[in-house]
Amino acid sequence: MTFAPRSWLFVPADSEKKIAKGLASAADAVILDLEDAVAPDRKAEARAMLPDLVPRSRAGGPSLWVRINPLDHPDMAQDVGVAIAIGADGVVLPKAQGGSDIASLAKLIDLRGGGMMQIHAVATETAASLFQLGSYGGSPRLAALSWGAEDLSAALGASAKTGADGGLSFTYRMARSLTLAGAVAAGVQPVETLYADFRDEAGLVAMARAARREGFTGMLAIHPAQVDPINAAFTPDEAEIAHARRVVAAFAADPQAGTVGLDGRMLDRPHLKQAEALLARAER
Ligand code: COA
Ligand code: MG
Repeated sequence: MTFAPRSWLFVPADSEKKIAKGLASAADAVILDLEDAVAPDRKAEARAMLPDLVPRSRAGGPSLWVRINPLDHPDMAQDVGVAIAIGADGVVLPKAQGGSDIASLAKLIDLRGGGMMQIHAVATETAASLFQLGSYGGSPRLAALSWGAEDLSAALGASAKTGADGGLSFTYRMARSLTLAGAVAAGVQPVETLYADFRDEAGLVAMARAARREGFTGMLAIHPAQVDPINAAFTPDEAEIAHARRVVAAFAADPQAGTVGLDGRMLDRPHLKQAEALLARAER
């Protein structure tokens, strides 16, 4: 995987001010949202104004994505058309229900002449979606999977997402873990969900670090203040890079070995793979 934005910043697609702010931010990817962030009677207007609000040349800025409406929504095909018209790098598909949805969307993008356009699927927003998280392999357009708890809890008829201890209930933690494994199995980027309390930086950082330790390589954001902390949390620091270099060097010094010792600890091939992945991320 060569493409892995650390921060994916949502921007309501009907707000000229926020679009300008998002595109000028340090987000690795900006998602112009035509789904939940825009009221139904403003969607047509948002689509009409996007081509004027998004500059043609965006060299050096965030990669550009459009969150379209779900596959069964009457506006969906028009949303894809706008994404192509503004030269977006990809579309974010909400309420995705498995690999067959990605195939349908990819076919539509082909028909519309969408070039290299990629797909990021939000993969846990319906009850049925939870049974399809292992089905995402094999689409060259698919770049990332993320998950969401809000729509899932509404779909399940839940009155709360958290248990008595304040943490996410098992259902949501399961959805999150299956998204992580499903993304890695499909060879695409696993993306952590958003942290809604945008004034709580400490809480955001704790969540982002935990996600990275588990294998997520990026996270959704809803406010520009979340971008820097997320970018930092998903960037390998000097100590990690130095350690990874020593792991690679230890194996390079003994190419036939399945295991080597470093600082009194055993390292085997999975450690080498981890170290190489970390160095590849650090290089970007
Ligand atoms: N993208 C770009 N700019 C944003 C932004 C975003 N997601 N969220 C806030 N801003 C801007 C505001 O317009 C404001 O600009 P100003 O200083 O020029 O007035 C500045 O950042 C500070 O915003 P703040 O006052 O702290 O927040 P707010 O009350 O204006 O907005 C939200 C709060 C939640 C409505 C806003 O963050 C937002 O729209 N988030 C994205 C929502 C979304 O897309 N949801 C769909 C995915 S779940
Ligand atoms: Mg939603």
